[in-house]
Amino acid sequence: MTTPTHVSIIMDGNGRWAQLRGEERLFGHQAGAQSVRDVVEAAAEAGVRYLSLFAFSSENWNRPKKEVDGLMELLIESIREETPNLIKNNVRLRSIGDLSHLPPYVGDSFKHSMKETELCTGLTVVLALSYSGTWDILQAANRYAKDRLDGNVHTPLDVALFEQYLSTAEIPPPDLLIRTSGEERISNFMLWQLAYTELYFTPVLWPDFRKKDLKKALAAYARRDRRFGIIK
Ligand code: IPE
Ligand code: IPE
Ligand code: MG
Repeated sequence: MTTPTHVSIIMDGNGRWAQLRGEERLFGHQAGAQSVRDVVEAAAEAGVRYLSLFAFSSENWNRPKKEVDGLMELLIESIREETPNLIKNNVRLRSIGDLSHLPPYVGDSFKHSMKETELCTGLTVVLALSYSGTWDILQAANRYAKDRLDGNVHTPLDVALFEQYLSTAEIPPPDLLIRTSGEERISNFMLWQLAYTELYFTPVLWPDFRKKDLKKALAAYARRDRRFGIIK
């Protein structure tokens, strides 16, 4: 079976999962954290090299303060609790997104975890936090422009050079994008990087998405015929 090198997931449906149970949305986010653990394990077992998880978008800042604060709290707790397991399982943690936008205590805790796992050589988990595809492209363009003005770069942009400025530099583009909860849209995730990614949509809500669901998605991926515009 062809295993994707990089699997990306838009983890959606926590709020609806909670509402279906007559609970507050945060209850769904808490249940979703368990799915993250399960899927990280399943991805490592399947031999996936990169797993990127859309955890919090730039647009999600516009949700009610109570939900945003609850999500930040949950993030910190999960990272603290999980770091020893990540190290034990040789998982490296990375992040993409505008970390400067996060409350300092969240950013610091995250940086600490990334430092602790930086020598791990197994699966790389890339958490997209305060991330959006348009943000990524703009920050890349601005950094290139500055380098050019400062005389650090002398060549015009091409695809390879631009990709060095994206937050995903050194991470190959996703082979497979999974979105849960039945929505069939990108919601401003990796706009550039998804150019040739295989898309997989499932009605399963994120807190119900477990190992078996990832396996199903990987099996569907293995049946795809990727042509990249050429004739085979
Ligand atoms: C995804 O679940 C988690 C985040 C966006 C942080 P949602 O919170 O979007 O859940 P729904 O889509 O409202 O059900
Ligand atoms: C996308 O989900 C962002 C994350 C999963 C972090 P949203 O729930 O925010 O997306 P929309 O609003 O349905 O497009
Ligand atoms: Mg949603």
